[in-house]
Amino acid sequence: MKSSITHGVKILSTGSAVPHFSLNNQTISEIVQTSDEWISTRTGIKERRLLTGSHQSVIDLAILASRKALDKISMDPSQIDLIILATSSPNDLFGSASQIQFKIGAVNAVAFDLTAACSGFVLGIVTASQFIRSGTYCNILVIGADVLSKWVDWSDRSTCILFGDAAGAAILQSCSDIENSILNFQLNTDGYYSSHLSIPYQDNDKPHAFLNLHQGSFKYLYMNGREVYKFAVSQVPLSILKCLNSLNMSVNDINWLLLHQANERILNAVAEKLSISRDKIIANLSKYGNTSAASIPLALDEALQESKIVDNDIVVIAGFGAGLTWGTIIVRWKEFTLG
Ligand code: ACO
Repeated sequence: MKSSITHGVKILSTGSAVPHFSLNNQTISEIVQTSDEWISTRTGIKERRLLTGSHQSVIDLAILASRKALDKISMDPSQIDLIILATSSPNDLFGSASQIQFKIGAVNAVAFDLTAACSGFVLGIVTASQFIRSGTYCNILVIGADVLSKWVDWSDRSTCILFGDAAGAAILQSCSDIENSILNFQLNTDGYYSSHLSIPYQDNDKPHAFLNLHQGSFKYLYMNGREVYKFAVSQVPLSILKCLNSLNMSVNDINWLLLHQANERILNAVAEKLSISRDKIIANLSKYGNTSAASIPLALDEALQESKIVDNDIVVIAGFGAGLTWGTIIVRWKEFTLG
C-alpha cells in the first residue's frame, strides 16, 4: 500500500559469494602471453575466482550471497517485497531474477533483472531506494552478480586477465526519514561511447532463406582499455563532487571511498584527483579482479566483515562501466543490531 510519507532507506545486511576456483597471474601466463609483473603493475590484480564446472551460473552465486545476507539478520525470505538482480551475464536473456526469487523462497517478491554492467549495483540501489522512499515497498534485496569469465575471450590477453566471477547482495529496508542512510545519488549515461566496452550481438552471415531474417549470437567482451581508463579517471571524480556539493559536503567528510573495483590505477587516480588519502580507499581487487556488478557489494561486505566501516561513517560509492554509465551514491552508514 503506497503512503504519502517520505520514508528513509537503511542497508540492513550484506552478503557475498565467490567461486572456489582461483586463477593466479602465474597460471594465466601459461594460457596467454603475459606475466605476473605486467598484470600486477598495470592493474593491481593478483588472482581472480572463476565459476568452473558445468551447470553453474550466476544464479548459484547470487543465491549464496542472498542467503548470507538474509541469515545475518535472520530474515525470512517471504518478507522480501522486491528483488533486483543487477547482472550482464544472466543465464536466460528473459532474466534470471525470477529463478533466484523461487530458489530462495521469496514467495511475496516481484523480481527483475537490471542490466548496467559495472554500474549495475549502484543503479540497483538507487532504483530500490525510490521504491522505498515512495512507500511502495518495505524490504528489497539488491544483488550484483556477474560471471564474465563466460564472456571473455581466453585467448585475448588484454581482457582475460582483468575479470573474475562473484556475487554480492544487500538488503534495504524502509525506516524513518531521520535514520535515512542513502543521502544522495548522481547518475549519468553517455551512449556515444558505448562501443568502448561491449558484448555485442552479431548477425550470422546467412539470413533465413524465405524471410530474409538474420539470426545471430553474442560475441566476446570487447574493451578499449585506454578509452575506458580516461573516461573513468575524468568522469568519476566529477560525479562524486556533484553529489557531495548538492549535500553541502566536501571531500573532507568522506571516511571511505568505495569505487567499482576495475583497476588499482583507476582507484588511485580518482582518489588523487579528489585529494583523498589512499588509506580511505576500499580495495580488494588484488584477490578477485574486476567482478563487474558484484565488485561493489563484494568489497562492501568484506569491509564490513573487517569492521572497517563503522556507525555514521560517510561512504562514497561510485560505479562506472559499459554504457558508458556511471554514478555515485553517498551513504551515511548505520550499524544494524538485531533487537
Ligand atoms: N600482458 C602483457 N602485455 C599486454 C597485456 C598482457 N596481459 N595486455 C596488453 N598487452 C600489451 C599490448 O599488446 C600492448 O603491446 P604493444 O605496445 O606491443 O602493442 C601493450 O601491452 C600496451 O597495451 P595497452 O592496451 O595500451 O595497455 P595499457 O597500458 O592501456 O593497459 C589496461 C591495459 C590495464 C586494460 C588499461 O588500459 C586500463 O587500465 N584500462 C582501464 C580499463 C579497465 O580497467 N577496464 C576494466 C573493465 S571496464 C570497467 O570495469 C569499467
